[in-house]
Amino acid sequence: MMKIAIDGPAGAGKSTVAKTLSQLMSYIYIDTGAMYRSLTWKALQTGTNLDDEKALYELATNTNIHFQKDNSQQKVFCDSFDVSEEIRSPQVSSYVSKLASYPSIRQLMVQRQQEMACNHSVVMDGRDIGECVLPDADFKFFLTASIAERARRRLAEMKSQGYEQQLEAIRDEIIKRDEDDARREVGALKVLPDSIVIDTSNMTIEQVVEKILAIIRED
Ligand code: CDP
Ligand code: CDP
Repeated sequence: MMKIAIDGPAGAGKSTVAKTLSQLMSYIYIDTGAMYRSLTWKALQTGTNLDDEKALYELATNTNIHFQKDNSQQKVFCDSFDVSEEIRSPQVSSYVSKLASYPSIRQLMVQRQQEMACNHSVVMDGRDIGECVLPDADFKFFLTASIAERARRRLAEMKSQGYEQQLEAIRDEIIKRDEDDARREVGALKVLPDSIVIDTSNMTIEQVVEKILAIIRED
């Protein structure tokens, strides 16, 4: 059973690369960011107070988040709702780090992610995969890129989804989210001693995938 962890800041290319790798290798792909985003979406929908860790934990224990394959796409369901698109909204993006900072929520999510990965070969991407979810992963990649490039990528992505946003606003949101993700006490975004760091600033998705495959094959 092969376990591949991919961590890194927003817009580094984690999910695109993880998805491609999982397809090439016929492994399961688990987008852990989509799980935190789905819970944030539900908290906003239900008017749950985002300052109330207990209420959010209660909400999380009563929420089913699962992935479903749909041709080459992977859909995210929160209970019975297909939230694949809604969870990428600027509103969800602006609140998700707050919800993800609560230790009780993280503990529950990590446990669920470990259950999903159990008995499967997986590619999993997020922030704390190498440290908390798959500490024994065969490979721990840390993808990164300059803030200018990550903001540019995210702007293009948001535009293609019909959101009108300014580069400045996206840049500021990413910087704030990275800071919040790196600062929290549990499951913080960080390079680990056994991380393989790849700066993707000047790389295409195909080049990143090729590089990762070469490292895996070399081993
Ligand atoms: O795609 P993008 O990098 O913008 O974000 P994402 O991977 O969907 O993750 C959204 C947010 O969820 C992150 O900014 C973190 O606050 C949180 N997250 C986390 O705390 N731990 C993870 N393993 C994955 C995501
Ligand atoms: O998951 P994460 O936030 O790290 O990034 P992503 O959602 O995989 O990538 C954000 C956007 O950048 C996507 O639209 C990718 O197609 C694009 N991208 C790129 O243009 N070049 C790369 N080397 C990686 C991603």
